[in-house]
Amino acid sequence: MSDRLYIFDTTLRDGEQSPGCSMNIEEKLRIAHALAALGVDVIEAGFPVASPDDFTAVNRIAAEVPNAMIAGLARAHPKDIDGVAEAIKPAGDRGRIHTFIATSPIHMEAKLRMSPDEVVERAVAAVKQARNLVANVEFSAEDAGRSDDDFLCRIVEKVIDAGASVINIPDTVGYMTPDEFGRKIKLLRERVPNADQAIFSVHCHNDLGLAVANSLAAVENGARQVECTINGLGERAGNAALEEIVMILKTRADRYNIDTGIDTTKIVQTSKLVSQITGMPIQANKAIVGANAFAHESGIHQDGVLKHKKTYEIMTPESVGWNTNRMVLGKHSGRAALKARYVELGVTLDDEQLVAVFERFKALADKKKDIFDEDLQAILNEDAEINTEHVKLVALHVASGTKDAPVAAVKLDIDGEIFEATAKGDGPVDAAFKAIKSLVEPNGKLLLYSVNAITAGTDAQGEVTVRLQDGERIVNAQGSDTDIVVASAKALIAALNKLPNMHAREVHAQYSGV
Ligand code: KIV
Ligand code: ZN
Repeated sequence: MSDRLYIFDTTLRDGEQSPGCSMNIEEKLRIAHALAALGVDVIEAGFPVASPDDFTAVNRIAAEVPNAMIAGLARAHPKDIDGVAEAIKPAGDRGRIHTFIATSPIHMEAKLRMSPDEVVERAVAAVKQARNLVANVEFSAEDAGRSDDDFLCRIVEKVIDAGASVINIPDTVGYMTPDEFGRKIKLLRERVPNADQAIFSVHCHNDLGLAVANSLAAVENGARQVECTINGLGERAGNAALEEIVMILKTRADRYNIDTGIDTTKIVQTSKLVSQITGMPIQANKAIVGANAFAHESGIHQDGVLKHKKTYEIMTPESVGWNTNRMVLGKHSGRAALKARYVELGVTLDDEQLVAVFERFKALADKKKDIFDEDLQAILNEDAEINTEHVKLVALHVASGTKDAPVAAVKLDIDGEIFEATAKGDGPVDAAFKAIKSLVEPNGKLLLYSVNAITAGTDAQGEVTVRLQDGERIVNAQGSDTDIVVASAKALIAALNKLPNMHAREVHAQYSGV
């Protein structure tokens, strides 16, 4: 008999805390639907007290996303706990309050300025309050990795008595080694007298690149919930990557004999969706979901794989959803087929959305013969952005070649008014960026520019990622098109739209660079 590990996904909460990864409500809903289809057990939908938008996102996910348990994060404060209870109400008995307080000496002294006794008292009060509101309560001892073991045992025993049924042990700063962390979980399970009344969970950060290894060491020592994120997104160096944890358990079932409820064939599509929405590209050599994860380059490897796949492949690309991007639709497909395919991808379009998305689909099908699932996701991203943005691309014309300096002419709709500019640049993209940036402010400093092909073939859509910085604020955005200069302009405009207070420049005479 195999054992069961619960997968707690925190892409929408800890993942969203990655610089530049904030998402709007519709984007969070799309990811939440994809996570439910992937089969995660718990979706941590957000931190409701952080802002009215966070509250609404958790509330709508609780109301609209099926199957998974929906958790909301709360500090050990009455206001936070009431906020989560209210936000998750529509999920009924699938709702969970996740409350936390720091337990390490440095956090208690320097951050909370509370004594250990006060921390225990606050934690117990928080769990009791939460248990009066919902049946399912998780308690996290923030910075448990650096917390004293005796103190951890004491607080864990008290919160279990107060009604917490999941005890989460975070390595908040990614400091632990696998051996140490595994021993900590073992010790807690052995020494806390009521440990059998709770599920032990772990939440590992990746500051030293050990988040997945530490999570697995915890699983080997009895943890039965792992908190993780798609593509390993999260604070600083991120959290343990869901796809890696799940595929290690599946590929090495001989060693672990532990199942998850994940439909692994949906991993790649979920990973791409999260990357597209957050604008965080996936490095090509990233395990499981990187573009090169199953690519064999050397002659010896290719020869081996042709003779027998298992010579160099420990899992099949199909098992995680590679090579399954079927050609779904083309130029002659109708609205009903488009709508039905989106439903299969976990997206339900209302009539108004369908009209807008269908228009974009037709425009793309005119330029590109085969439309893949990734193209459909890209259309959706663009549509969601276009409906909420101040600046829209009306037209772009670029002239470039071997002789003259490239020149770009751009027409933008900024809050309903049309503005035009032209600019020269070092290349067509540079010219287009200069022309666009001349029309708006703030226009940010370009930190990253990268281009990828969404699907295969010379008619593939190019997907451009742009990262901009304006003061403290860092934003990521993506744009896609069969023309990479247009994709670049769309990505820049999407990023500009994420900068606060972005508006047309006071002086918007023609740019003088020409
Ligand atoms: O890293 C951490 O400790 C957290 C907790 C709030 C679970 O994110
Ligand atoms: Zn965290």
